Amino acid sequence: MKNVEILDQRARDILHLNDKGTYTIPTEGLYPYQWNWDSAFAAVGFAQFDVNRAWVELETLFSGQWDNGMVPHILFHRADPGYFPGPDVWAGTGPIPSSGISQPPVAATMARMVFDCDPVLGKQRLAPLFDKMLVWHRWFMQWRLDQGAVCISHPWEAGRDNAPDWDVAMANIDPGDVGEYTRRDTSHVDSSMRPKKYDYDRYIWLVQRGRRLDWDEEAMLADTPFRVADPTMTFILLRAQRDLVALGKILGRDVSEIEADIEKLQAGAETLWNNKLGCYDSRDVNSGQWANSISNASFLCWYAGLAAEDMKSVYADVMKDLRYGVPSLDTRHEQFDGMRYWRGPVWGIMNMMIAMGMSEMNMPEAQALRETTAALIAEHGFAEYFDPRDGSPAGGKSFTWTAAIWLGWASPSARTL
Ligand code: SER
Repeated sequence: MKNVEILDQRARDILHLNDKGTYTIPTEGLYPYQWNWDSAFAAVGFAQFDVNRAWVELETLFSGQWDNGMVPHILFHRADPGYFPGPDVWAGTGPIPSSGISQPPVAATMARMVFDCDPVLGKQRLAPLFDKMLVWHRWFMQWRLDQGAVCISHPWEAGRDNAPDWDVAMANIDPGDVGEYTRRDTSHVDSSMRPKKYDYDRYIWLVQRGRRLDWDEEAMLADTPFRVADPTMTFILLRAQRDLVALGKILGRDVSEIEADIEKLQAGAETLWNNKLGCYDSRDVNSGQWANSISNASFLCWYAGLAAEDMKSVYADVMKDLRYGVPSLDTRHEQFDGMRYWRGPVWGIMNMMIAMGMSEMNMPEAQALRETTAALIAEHGFAEYFDPRDGSPAGGKSFTWTAAIWLGWASPSARTL
């Protein structure tokens, strides 16, 4: 591996490059605003050398929280014409111009990691954030549950935009009246690495529907064509609730409500077990159909605190011929597309969360995944994502979350998780 100090410095430089003072953008051009889960990972990166800045990142994220508890997936702090769909298209109803949907709630877990870097400072900063995270998690429990599993209302909510997990629900949408629009993403990145027009029409159609309904959750739930129970959200919220309990105990709070939610989510996680596939999978709520997709989200089961013994052989099978980490879609799946966003590529953040779970389950695969992710970044740079077959870098460059997980986890100099 190249000199670790040089790579650590490069990662810190990327965080500074993308730092807008009180929040961090994922990468210049392609994503010029504050994204929800990107920011939470950025906080873990900052915490390795500036714990105060890490708390500021999370505080800015929660400054965009809506009255109903939702924390938007994008905060549009300063207008940027290079991104579509921007604040005028979304017309979010919160205190800061924003999107109208949320994103995987990794913040409590990342806040706990930041806390551990400096518990004295953490005690001062945690209390107001704890209350906001509690209310956000309640919003998921109120509006997103199906049989205890967490659903998404838009593919962007899961963060795995074009995963085949949503194909059944997406086929139910007729975007005939979506109108003309100009994509900006494909002016920053080659279109072979981005979702297709078929998906984009439906993404925008769903945004228009939410806006028309004034982002009223009750109205949006009625007759929705798109509601998918998703392992990303379910496992990540389950994990976040466990971390929120730990943080609440530090603050001396009553955490019985959160503990009851954990029970519900644990039961919900089991409704994502696709028996025929022998794997955790996404379930279309309207039709009851399975996606039949073995994705990197399937392997977040351990991160969620589930023993998931049956998943160990699934993991071994998927990873058999791969050297660069966990693909977002099993390479043998007919829809596999190695460079196209969430239909194949490897993502560093997913590798980190999967490895955190494995490590807590005492699985030796954790260390191997850490080392392969480190080698991937050392050889191919701080890209947004990578082709699982040969490690080719793809998507945005100088990417915040890849730099952040390098500093917080993958680098040989990182504190081990
Ligand atoms: N990932 C979406 C995009 O590419 C939005 O969150 O713009």
